[in-house]
Amino acid sequence: MDIQLSAIILAAGRGSRMKSDVPKVLHPVLGIPMIELVTQQVRQCGADDLTLVLGHGAPLVEKALGDAPIRCAIQEPQRGTADAVLAGLLQQPPLHSDVLVVNGDLPDLDPKLLARFVADHRSGGAAFSVATAQVSDPVGMGRIVRNDEGAFQQIVEQQDANPVIQQIDEVNLGLYMLQVETILPILQQVVTEDLSTADAGFESYLTRVVEVLVQKDIAVAAVPVAADRQFLQVNDRRGLARASRVLQDRLQQQFLEAGVTIIDPLTTWIELEVEIGTDTVIHPQTVIRRGVRVGRHCEIGPFAHLREGTVIENDVKVGNFVEINRSHLANGVRAKHLAYLGDTQVERGANIGAGAVVANYDGTKKSPTVIGERAFIGSGSVIVAPGQIGADSIVGAGAVVPPGKPVESGSIVVGVPARKLKRNINRPGEIREDERGIR
Ligand code: UD1
Ligand code: CA
Repeated sequence: MDIQLSAIILAAGRGSRMKSDVPKVLHPVLGIPMIELVTQQVRQCGADDLTLVLGHGAPLVEKALGDAPIRCAIQEPQRGTADAVLAGLLQQPPLHSDVLVVNGDLPDLDPKLLARFVADHRSGGAAFSVATAQVSDPVGMGRIVRNDEGAFQQIVEQQDANPVIQQIDEVNLGLYMLQVETILPILQQVVTEDLSTADAGFESYLTRVVEVLVQKDIAVAAVPVAADRQFLQVNDRRGLARASRVLQDRLQQQFLEAGVTIIDPLTTWIELEVEIGTDTVIHPQTVIRRGVRVGRHCEIGPFAHLREGTVIENDVKVGNFVEINRSHLANGVRAKHLAYLGDTQVERGANIGAGAVVANYDGTKKSPTVIGERAFIGSGSVIVAPGQIGADSIVGAGAVVPPGKPVESGSIVVGVPARKLKRNINRPGEIREDERGIR
């Protein structure tokens, strides 16, 4: 979709209300740093030319963005949102004359809503448009002041709002559209005026552009956008918790609608980009981290922790106090009690006993382990990575398998360090206890 749209995301602010050493936009919501969510959503609305305005903690934010094709401008020092937009426009001249400006602390932007706002701005023909909504709790937000005819006059920030203005419930959402040629000189004027004051702590507000444009008789618009969703803004940790909760509830609804059972939604926490197949049951107190994939007909939890990089195929059971990290569990694997699997490939039908641990970290590096088909890993055993446990083998209870020492297929190893027993086992086609229905 080519809609000839540039975008500037404002992410330079100190975020002092977060009381954090970490830049505000790097705080994750359901496992994804806010800046990544906002960037995704802005791209999805059709903007193909993105500039991030960074300042406070800029190197950290740049590092978190990796090699995504985004241009960055640096605002130093951070002297307000008008100054931030100006830094973006001057340091990274936009490719298109229409620019969407988005506050970087809005982790729940609906791309469709953004696209509609862009279209409304264009059909209205204003040089500067502000997206607005009527909200039940406007405290802390810029109020939209209109005259008796309803014409947009001004945005008044909370700290400047008198009691009458505080009653206004139409607020500035922190989303703007501007026409560069008209707005750039105005911004330069506003910022120069504002920042020429002696007080170094004074900030130049983007919202002040509105009254200057009205004075100059240049068309501005306050565009109400769909009010049928909450507009989540993260200014402090309460905002972060609230945004996370709202997104969590919405995500769980999607899983429930798609045929996943979540026994207790309130004690289940699932991050974004997770996939879960139908008829899988998620028991209480389970945490599933970003990007984990779980197949069909699985049982997960209670008290399970599936961490990033984990893929679980179908008919798998992961039970109480089991942590799985960057591992792949093939069809029919069982790990039902008190286990840890890290960097482990577990082949079909293997059974991980209670308290078994794959020790994937030796204090300096992490190493992989493969557990073969139908292998039986005894209770309380430790496989020190790199590990190679053959198909149909048995690791006895309490055994410690040293690193790099393969366990042959069909063999039995016991003890510390694990040694092979003379006899091999022959259990082709053996039916696992729980599959006989004895449980
Ligand atoms: C801002 C608006 C307010 C609106 C609200 C909606 C202004 C002056 N006020 O208030 O009208 O209702 O958003 O969410 O714009 N930033 C910079 N450089 C700076 C200062 C801020 O890049 O010098 C960035 C921040 O990182 C943040 C965004 O701009 O992502 C908004 O700043 P914030 O301090 O959160 O503004 P609000 O007080 O929420
Ligand atoms: Ca904000």
